[in-house]
Amino acid sequence: MSFKKVYFGTNLKMYKGVADTVSYLKELEQLTSDIDRNCAELFVIPSYTALSEAVCSVSQAQILLGAQNMCWEEQGQFTGEISPLMLRELGLSIVELGHSERRHIFGESNEMINRKVCTALKNGFKTLLCIGETGEDKQYGISDEVLRIQLKTGFYGVSDKMYGQIMVAYEPVWAIGADGKPASAEYAKEKHAVIRKTLCEIFGDNGYAIPLLYGGSVNPSNADNLILQPDIDGLFVGRSAWNAADFNSLIRSAIDKVLLLR
Ligand code: PGA
Repeated sequence: MSFKKVYFGTNLKMYKGVADTVSYLKELEQLTSDIDRNCAELFVIPSYTALSEAVCSVSQAQILLGAQNMCWEEQGQFTGEISPLMLRELGLSIVELGHSERRHIFGESNEMINRKVCTALKNGFKTLLCIGETGEDKQYGISDEVLRIQLKTGFYGVSDKMYGQIMVAYEPVWAIGADGKPASAEYAKEKHAVIRKTLCEIFGDNGYAIPLLYGGSVNPSNADNLILQPDIDGLFVGRSAWNAADFNSLIRSAIDKVLLLR
C-alpha cells in the first residue's frame, strides 16, 4: 500500500498574541524539521494581529500559515472586516472559512460562506472549508443532510478544476472545545465517507484528491485511530496542539501509525 499524505493543522482561535505565536511557531518548526513535507503537510492559523510577524518567523515550506476568516469582498465599506487582498499582501497560503464558531456564534450562513469560498479561491488561497452538524442535527438524524447542504452550498459555483486548492475539515459541533465529546473513529469514518461521496458529486473523481481532515477534541489518545480511517487524510487540532511539543508528539505518533500501513 502506498503512503497516504497526511495533514496536520491547528487554528489558534483567539489565543496567543504576537510574541506567543512567534515562539510557538519557531519551536514547532524546529521540532518538526526532520519530518518529510512530501509525506506530511503542517499548517497553523494564528490570530489576525500575529499574522504579519508569523509570516516572518517561519518558512511556509515547513509550516503553511493561514487566516481564520476573511471578507467576501476585496474592498469596500465593511468596517472591521479583512480583505483577501490584505491577506495576500501578508503572503499567507490558507484561508479557513465556516468554522463552527463563525457559523454559530457570529451567524455566518452557508450563502455567506459560499461567497467567501469563491473569493478565497479567486485570490489563490488554499481554502479550508469547515463543516459539521450540531448536536441537535445529530439527534434529529439529519447529520448527513446537513453536511451535504454545507458542502453543496459552500462549493456552489466553484469549478471542479479548483479541487487542488481545496481542503475540507469535518468538525462536528458537539465534538469541539472543552465541553465537546470527540467523535468515535467509527462515527468519523462514516461521516467522512458521506463527505467524500458528496465531494465526488461536486468535483467528479477529483473529489478523491481533496484532503479531508477530522477536527473536534482530537487528542493524543484518539489521534492515531482517527488518522487510520480510510477517508481521513488529516487532523485539525485545537487545544491539543497549542503547545508545540505536544503537537509535535501527536503528529509523530500519527505519522508512525500511517507508516506502519506501508
Ligand atoms: P478542539 O478544537 O480540538 O479544541 O476541540 C477544534 C476546532 O475548533 O478546530
